[in-house]
Amino acid sequence: MLHNIVLMGPPGAGKGTLAKQLKTAYNLTHISTGDMFREAIKEGTELGKLAKSYLDSGNLVPDEVTIGLVKERLAKPDCESGFLLDGFPRTLGQAKALKELSKEINRPVEVVVNLDCDNDELVRRISGRRVCKNCGAPYHIESMKPKVEGVCDLCGGPLYQRKDDNEEALKVRLHHYVVDTKPLLDFYEEEGLLKNFNSLQGSQHLFDEVSAFLKK
Ligand code: AP5
Ligand code: MG
Repeated sequence: MLHNIVLMGPPGAGKGTLAKQLKTAYNLTHISTGDMFREAIKEGTELGKLAKSYLDSGNLVPDEVTIGLVKERLAKPDCESGFLLDGFPRTLGQAKALKELSKEINRPVEVVVNLDCDNDELVRRISGRRVCKNCGAPYHIESMKPKVEGVCDLCGGPLYQRKDDNEEALKVRLHHYVVDTKPLLDFYEEEGLLKNFNSLQGSQHLFDEVSAFLKK
């Protein structure tokens, strides 16, 4: 089974949803840079103070900050049995840094799982998304309802709408995806690591398809 995985895709493609399913099924360590920044903002750390304006507006946190954060995280022992990088890398600088640092720690990326999704569906998913304040699990007000409205199925935490899930910030996020992140697909294609999946299928089908591929 492949254990060191990068999840890519535009905002709302389902990276976080798939990561939570894979983490539970295969005991992989889920590293979401977005979740790490949101946690730092919640705790009011120096990192959080720096990251807040970037996240709220939908802009990218500078590479040197993000790369340092991931470098530290990937070196921790819980990544030895496998990691799921969700939302990193997002720029060519980050992808090159990841290549170097994963070599240094002897945990090379084995596959890049890219989730394809069309723009109308991204907007539908982002505008209806609710997220657990405690554990970050994503829900949707129409298509992925929690069992009890406003309450996380997994940990009982309250659900909220992310501050960057609005029309204005989403435009900025989509712009950064197209300009900064999409070119990484060519980078990983050349590296022989890219595998594309259609994320328009329901999340259970997608999970089954990705699982079958990882187990090959
Ligand atoms: P981040 O938190 O990574 O946000 P994002 O990339 O915009 O992606 P999302 O979390 O919005 O979407 P997702 O793909 O995880 O979808 P989800 O599973 O929730 O980053 C936020 C910010 O942090 C950035 O803008 C930037 O400022 C900063 N940042 C983070 N990483 C950085 C980096 N490397 N460099 C610089 N800055 C960085 O699903 C969405 C919705 O769809 C949910 O409602 C869900 O229920 C539903 N859904 C999911 N899958 C399916 C499916 N298969 N079928 C139907 N519905 C589905
Ligand atoms: Mg996410």
